[in-house]
Amino acid sequence: MSNFPKDFLWGGAIAANQAEGAYNLDGKGLSVQDVAPKGWKDRPTEEPTEDNLKLVGIDFYHRYKEDIKLFAEMGFKVFRLSIAWSRIFPKGDELEPNEAGLAFYDNVFDECAKYGIEPLVTLSHYETPLYLSKTYDGWKSRELIGFFEHYARTVFNRYKDKVKYWITFNEINSISHAPLLSGGIYTPLAELSQQDLYQAMHHELVASAKAVKACHEIIPNGQIGCMILGMPVYPLTPAPKDVLKSLAAERDNYYFSDIQVRGYYPTYTNRIFKENNIQLEILEDDIESLKHTVDFISFSYYMSTCESAEPGHETGEGNILGGIPNPYLEASEWGWQIDPEGLRYYLNNLYDRYQKPLFIVENGLGAVDELVELADGTKTVQDDYRIQYMNDHLVQVEEALEDGVEIMGYTSWGCIDLVSFTTAELKKRYGMIYVDRNDDGSGTLERFKKKSFNWYKKVIETNGDSLKK
Ligand code: BG6
Repeated sequence: MSNFPKDFLWGGAIAANQAEGAYNLDGKGLSVQDVAPKGWKDRPTEEPTEDNLKLVGIDFYHRYKEDIKLFAEMGFKVFRLSIAWSRIFPKGDELEPNEAGLAFYDNVFDECAKYGIEPLVTLSHYETPLYLSKTYDGWKSRELIGFFEHYARTVFNRYKDKVKYWITFNEINSISHAPLLSGGIYTPLAELSQQDLYQAMHHELVASAKAVKACHEIIPNGQIGCMILGMPVYPLTPAPKDVLKSLAAERDNYYFSDIQVRGYYPTYTNRIFKENNIQLEILEDDIESLKHTVDFISFSYYMSTCESAEPGHETGEGNILGGIPNPYLEASEWGWQIDPEGLRYYLNNLYDRYQKPLFIVENGLGAVDELVELADGTKTVQDDYRIQYMNDHLVQVEEALEDGVEIMGYTSWGCIDLVSFTTAELKKRYGMIYVDRNDDGSGTLERFKKKSFNWYKKVIETNGDSLKK
């Protein structure tokens, strides 16, 4: 018998901007993603351009029924998705929501309910309405707290009987690297002062806490979590200076969850503020709001990284935060270092720090897949590399459970192929369902089950017993 608890929430995850498409249908406003055709590193375009694959995504907007049916066939207990804020409030600062946008998610949640799948909904997954970004400079402005709270309360009220599990901001700690896509901040990173950046983080943290409060008020059995880009940082060597450097890098990430879980700023932030000459505007009401802490901690996990006190090391590719490559690890085709044991280490660290339930809401392998035709005429992808990756990570999840860590569930990232976030391409596929759509925009959008589809189905069916240790 495996260590996975009976009620373990197995499933998969997507985000609206990477899957839905229909970027301008039924009253939807533009989001920052609609003008980011190349991913997080480039400046936005003036208008949406045809080379932006997210404008069509995988057309989940029209095909959600077919997709959810496939998720149900795999046995999903939970499906993580995000609500596109600009579908509900096209500009972001309106008082009245867009009914067509609300109705779309009603239909999606009803479809999930048909199969007994619990939705896990992210309020903001790198999708700030573009108007808020251009007019208010995103989270730099305190006014966004009110707009976000209004949005959160609107969707909590609307879906209170349909959605129990919520997440506030996706990978909130990525704002310092990707201020536009993560924090809606239109000012280019190079021109953004530390003062403004930390103030923006503060606004987002207060907004997150206000959403937690609202969720608890409106949805009595609701559970709401924070979400961090999880990346353990190892010292490159045992030199004490390297150890201290990795501690500092880890704190850059814990900064957010420390506040969201404990309800106040940790003391190490005083030194950060002093040394960077930062004077945060923290109102009395902010302090009260922050006391509304999350019910669980969710995170993405793709890789670990290293830090060194010695200058001159080359930084590797990675999930936004990056870092120095680990000489003991292999990397994916995109240079993300694969470290299943790092997941166990990270789960243990988080649990030691907070003693709160954890939820792995993203994990998976981005790879180039080849669609092949079998003798019986069916088309599939022989993605043994993905099976290996997921198997090895899930084995470490099981180890962590045995270590005593409380884990609510696991949603594999991009359970169906979608447009990647960092590089905005389709060639980098994560799914267990292949979508016929390519980087040049060609493809029928038809769905095909990969080999990993049946593999994951079996894992869920056996509650982890079929994993190979
Ligand atoms: C996380 C994001 O950063 O990693 C997802 O929450 C993203 O939106 C995922 O897709 C994988 O990154 P990428 O760039 O490979 O899509």
